[in-house]
Amino acid sequence: MNKSIQTTLAFCLFLFSVQYTHAQKANYDEAKVPKFDIVDVLSTTDGQKVNTVEAWEKIRRPEILDIFRQQMYGTQPDTEVKVHYVVVKDIENAIPDLADIKEVDMIFSNANGRHSVRLTLFIPRKVSKPAPMFLGLNFYGNHTANPNENISIHSSWVRDNANFHIFGNRADEVSRGVRSSRWPVEYIVSQGYGLGLIYYGDIDPDFDDGFQNGLHPLFYKDGQTKPTSEEWGSIGIWSYGLSKALDYLGTDNDIDENKVIVFGHSRLGKTSLWAGVTDPRFAAAISNDSGCGGAALSKREFGERVAVINQNFPHWFNDNFIKYNNKESELPFDQHMLISLMAPRPVYIASAEQDEWADPKGEYLSGYYAKPAYDLYGIPSLNDVTPPKVNEARFTPGVSYHKRSGKHDVTRYDWVQYIEFADRFVR
Ligand code: GCU
Repeated sequence: MNKSIQTTLAFCLFLFSVQYTHAQKANYDEAKVPKFDIVDVLSTTDGQKVNTVEAWEKIRRPEILDIFRQQMYGTQPDTEVKVHYVVVKDIENAIPDLADIKEVDMIFSNANGRHSVRLTLFIPRKVSKPAPMFLGLNFYGNHTANPNENISIHSSWVRDNANFHIFGNRADEVSRGVRSSRWPVEYIVSQGYGLGLIYYGDIDPDFDDGFQNGLHPLFYKDGQTKPTSEEWGSIGIWSYGLSKALDYLGTDNDIDENKVIVFGHSRLGKTSLWAGVTDPRFAAAISNDSGCGGAALSKREFGERVAVINQNFPHWFNDNFIKYNNKESELPFDQHMLISLMAPRPVYIASAEQDEWADPKGEYLSGYYAKPAYDLYGIPSLNDVTPPKVNEARFTPGVSYHKRSGKHDVTRYDWVQYIEFADRFVR
């Protein structure tokens, strides 16, 4: 090998390792959080101050939404895709005295093909209909949320997990109910709420295959083989799936379509926020430990960084978001603006004490800094820059928040707060 090629190769390797090490280092030291300005929620990009609901809804809100679409979560292609809904199962009293189980196939189709996603509904029995509902995506399959054998098992790709006895990227009977600690179905329905579940891999399997599987290919124009750098990645299409489930719920007399709360944990908490923001029909949104790219402020550069999330999960956001790798200070927006787009609807942000990767303080602060948007509507929201103590939920009609003790997870404690939140502000 000639000398200059050798030198070039060595230099490239050096650059790669610098970039890699830099990106992999997560900061957990508050003293190292850089100084940064909070982008003003109410000032338009050309410097006009917005101070009425009308100007917010006509000018500033669409502007912010557009920024998030273009720069981060991606735009939805305008390709026409038809969706048919088929109720494939309706079992009365499937959970004795507590809930009926209904399953609906959401069938997406156009000239590019056909793709089916299953929605499982737990309909509470002890409440007058139509019932309010929590709707959320899950990581391993609807059947993992509860051991009830009426819940069907999906045939989509699923991540292997030895603890859950999932091997060969296929789910089977053995994984029934393995995630029931995260989905206290009996408790939720006993409180008078329905629960709607979709396995996220039915919409788009969560690995980087250049968007050849799941729903993305249905949206390609002639000759297109992957989304453009502006178009949506996985988070965008997962939230689209939630909106399409809401379309169905609007036709189901058991459910009150005006009282559907979109819920998600972690990457699916990023997704529930994006779904709530892009689809104002959702009555409220809950983000459980959503962290970077969800509720946490990116400019704090605390815990997971933009470069890390883009390297590890290149398929979650659009390609435009990559330009902010290690350049959070250049972001013309931050996640408090995402929360502000929920106004005037209630939103719940939850953190876990040991989940520093998701930056609990940054998650709280984005809720706090969304307040100007709620102020426009005269809706009280978080007004103290200091977060509440661990395990002390703070409820407001705007943003509610808690930091639970323990690790990155969804627990009974979290759900008790979500029921309280729903009772106060949605039901
Ligand atoms: C990783 C990722 C997070 C994400 C989490 C999850 O930890 O870095 O951004 O929230 O996975 O979805 O479980």
